[in-house]
Formats: sequence, structure tokens, C-alpha cells
Amino acid sequence: MSETSTPELIQVSTQGRVGIVTLNRPKQLNALNDQLMDELGAALKAFDADDNIGCIVITGSEKAFAAGADISAMAKYNFHEVYKGDYITRNWETIRSIRKPVIAAVAGFALGGGCELAMMCDFIIAADNAKFGQPEIKIGIIPGAGGTQRLPRAVGKAKAMDMVLTGRMMDATEAERAGLVSRVVPLNQLMDETQGAALMICEYSLLSVMAAKESVNRAFEGSLSDGVMFERRLFHALFATADQKEGMDAFLNKRKASFSHS
Ligand code: CAA
Repeated sequence: MSETSTPELIQVSTQGRVGIVTLNRPKQLNALNDQLMDELGAALKAFDADDNIGCIVITGSEKAFAAGADISAMAKYNFHEVYKGDYITRNWETIRSIRKPVIAAVAGFALGGGCELAMMCDFIIAADNAKFGQPEIKIGIIPGAGGTQRLPRAVGKAKAMDMVLTGRMMDATEAERAGLVSRVVPLNQLMDETQGAALMICEYSLLSVMAAKESVNRAFEGSLSDGVMFERRLFHALFATADQKEGMDAFLNKRKASFSHS
């Protein structure tokens, strides 16, 4: 694994064509402040623009993916600052513009904005010690980075209301059962499992990977018929790529495909 840059509150590295961002504010359990979210956004944009990267992983420490937005910073905010400064939208939502797949590798606490950041990723692989929650209600606010919208889409209304209204945590087993995470693995296998998934994605045509991500995301916006039509157009468009010819020829000739991402 090679270090590519060293900002202060995250660590950025690569493994093959996988770009890895590790949240690194251990004393505050990776509480997400403006500096960290600016650094994360810049790292994600750099990986998205890098032709040598095919998939991105965001992770934290063994104790905490992230324990939420930084309460010590938020405690001082007032309405006019957060509204005028577009708090959350300004830098947290950078991740929504990333077109390559982003996987969250979650160990320990993923609470409040930490759970919301994980849900903004394309899928979540959890360690068996992961704990998810939206405890904002306990400090006089509500989730503010999409939690009230993405959690019900992931786990349904009953569990989402339970989590958001009581502030209770969900362990990894419950999170997998409820559909919040795609896989649960022992803590010591979290990064191997996630990098394995990421490296597998990197072997596919980046064009079809990006089209697949864009199309699945359409399932959460608009009607079924619009979503299916969007998928159909992207499906048709992929027949214009060299990678479609290569992938199908490789299958028919019983050899491994070698994609050029074109
Ligand atoms: N913001 C700022 N600091 C935080 C933090 C947060 N979200 N979460 C933890 N910390 C800090 C603690 O203040 C503590 O600092 P000190 O050592 O200086 O006292 C340090 O991290 C370690 O935390 P604890 O001593 O509390 O560790 P613990 O193991 O006893 O408990 C915990 C862990 C259950 C995660 C607990 O820290 C906790 O409840 N944290 C707050 C979780 C929370 O409410 N998150 C939602 C934030 S609001 C939000 O995210 C809004 C949004 O939707 C965008």
C-alpha cells in the first residue's frame, strides 16, 4: 500500500486501483468537523478524477467509523450561521457527486453523521463490532445529513422511526438483517473483505461500473417506469463501448476479459 498524500484528519492511500480514505481523528472518535469533511471531499474528488482508480473505500478505526458530526463545534452554531453557511450541504454532500463506487468499511461506532456518511456510500461492509445509530434526538436535534431519508429506505419505516425517535443503536447482526449493510465479517477481516470487493469491482469495465451505480441510484428517485427507462438507455449505451465487445468475446472464447475502460 502506498501513501499518496497526508492531510491532517484523514489518511489517503491506494492499493492497486483502490483508493482508500481513513478517517483519522481518534481522540474524538472521528467526529466529523468542517476540516475533516473538506479533506474527505477533496480526497474523494481527486480519486474520482484519477484514471488509475476504479473504486474508493472509506473507513475509520476499529473503535469508530465516526461518532457523528462534531458536537463541540455544533454547540456554538446558531441558525444564521448554519443556514447562510449551508452547513452539511456545503461539503458533506460532495460524496453524492462521486461517480465511481464508494464502499464504507465500518467498524465500531457509526452514529449520527457517521451513520449518515456510511449510508451516503454505495454499500456498507460491517465488522462484527459495528454499531449504527441516529442519536441526534438525545441532543435536541434530528439527523441532518440525510438520515431521516436514507435510513427508512434502507431498513423500512418501523426500524427507522425506532432508531431516530429512541436514539438506540443497532448492532451489526441487526443491521445486516434489516438491510442496512451488505456483509458482516469478523473485525480482523474487515479491510481484507472490503479490499477484496473493491479490487473485484476494479477488474470490471469502469464504464459499466459507473453506469450500474448511476442506474441503481435511480431506484431511489422518481418512479419505477422512469428508473427502468433510465436503466434501459444506459444498457443500450454500453453496446457502444469497446469493453462490451471485449467482455462478451472473452466469455465466448473462455478467457479472462481485459477491459480498457473505453
Ligand atoms: N462530537 C464531538 N466529540 C465526540 C463525539 C462527537 N459526535 N463523539 C465522541 N466524542 C468525543 C468525546 O467527547 C470524548 O472526548 P473527551 O475524551 O475529550 O471527553 C471522546 O470523543 C471519546 O468519547 P467518549 O468518552 O464518550 O467514549 P465512549 O466510548 O464512552 O462513548 C460514544 C462512545 C457512545 C460514541 C459517545 O462518545 C457518544 O455518544 N458520542 C456522541 C454520539 C452522537 O450523539 N452523535 C451524533 C452527533 S449529531 C450529528 O451527527 C448531526 C448530524 O446528523 C449531521
